[in-house]
Amino acid sequence: MLTDKLKTPAQLALIQAQFAGSTRRLVFTNGCFDLLHVGHVRYLQQARALGDALLVALNGDDSVRALKGPSRPINTELDRAEVLAALECVDFVTVFHTERVTDLVGEIRPDVYAKGGDYTVDSLNPEEVAALRAAGSEIRILPLVAGKSTTATLARASQGAPARSAGPLRLGVLGSGKGSNFRAIAEAIENGTLDAEVRIVISDVEEAGILELARVRGIRAEHIVPGRFKTKLEPESEARVVELLQEADVELVVLAGYMRMIKPPLLEAFPSRIINIHPSLLPAFPGLRAWAQALAAGASTAGCTVHYVDNGMDTGEVIGQSEVPVLPGDTDESLHARIQVAEHALYPAVIARVARGLREI
Ligand code: GAR
Repeated sequence: MLTDKLKTPAQLALIQAQFAGSTRRLVFTNGCFDLLHVGHVRYLQQARALGDALLVALNGDDSVRALKGPSRPINTELDRAEVLAALECVDFVTVFHTERVTDLVGEIRPDVYAKGGDYTVDSLNPEEVAALRAAGSEIRILPLVAGKSTTATLARASQGAPARSAGPLRLGVLGSGKGSNFRAIAEAIENGTLDAEVRIVISDVEEAGILELARVRGIRAEHIVPGRFKTKLEPESEARVVELLQEADVELVVLAGYMRMIKPPLLEAFPSRIINIHPSLLPAFPGLRAWAQALAAGASTAGCTVHYVDNGMDTGEVIGQSEVPVLPGDTDESLHARIQVAEHALYPAVIARVARGLREI
C-alpha cells in the first residue's frame, strides 16, 4: 500500500518548487533503512528537527545489494518506504536507484543535508559534497545512537540471542604472529577499559608469539594444524576452530594478525560476529603487507581499519579507522611500527563499542 508521502521523481520537482518559494526549510537525508531500529528513529527525529519537513531518499533494492552484499536488503524497497512513511518525523519518501544522491541533490536543492555520525564531512563522497555546495545546502552530521545498529540487530537475531545478556563479552582471538594486538586487548581488559574476557586464543602457527602471550596470562592457547593450503585452513581444521570457539562459549571472534581467509564453516557459525584489524585505511590496500603497499604507492596517509569479516579479502563493513601520517624517509618497518601504535589504541576501543552494541540492544 502506497501512502501519499511516497513521491515519484516528477513529484519531487513540485516539492522543490514549494520550498524554494518559501522560508520553510527542507531537510534531506538518504539511506538503506532495511531493518528499522530505534537508532534510525532517533536519527530521523533529529534530522526532522533541523527544518520544517524531512525528505528521505531510500536506496532501491539493487543499490542496497551493491552496498551491503547479496543478503541485503532484509525488506523490499516498497515495504521499507511504507514503514518510513508511517513515521511522524518523515514527511516525504522517495526511492532512488543510482549509486550516489548527486542528481537528487541537484534536483531537490535541500536547505539541509543530514547524515549519520559514522561519516564526517571529509569522508562524504566528494561528488555529493560538491553537489550539496552547489545547491547551497547546509551539511549536518548527526550523532549515531551507540550500540543501536542494523548489524548488531542482525547478529542478535541470527544467534537467537536475548536482547540483554550479562557479564563481560566473551572473546575468541585468532592470530598468526607476535600478538601485539592481542596484548593490547588483554591490557585493556586488565586495566578495566574493556569489559570483555578472552576465553581462548587459537593460532595456525605453532611457535607464534600470540600463543605464548596467552599462556602467560593463563588463557587457553591452541595450535591448529593448518593443512595443505597457504591462504586458508583445511576444512577439517576450520571445523575444529569452530568447535573450539563454541566449546569456549565465545560471542565475538577477534582476528588479530590472523593471516588466512575465513571460510563458510566459521563464517556461518559466527555471522556478523567476526571482526578483523587490517593495517591500511580500507578499502585502500587490502591483502598482505598493506603498509608496504601504501609506501610503494606514495600515499601521504596510512592507518588501520577494524571491520566485520565477510567472505572477501578485507572487504567487510568498516567499524572504525585510525589514520597515521607517512613521513619523509619512512621505511616499511617504520611505517608499520607507527600503524601498530594506532592499532593498539583502535582495536580495544572498537571492541568496547561492539561489546556495548551486543549487550545493549
Ligand atoms: C597487524 O599489523 C595487523 O594489522 C596485520 O598483522 C599485524 C599483526 O601484528 N594484519 C593483517 O595484515 C591482516 N590482513 P600482531 O601479531 O603484533 O598483532
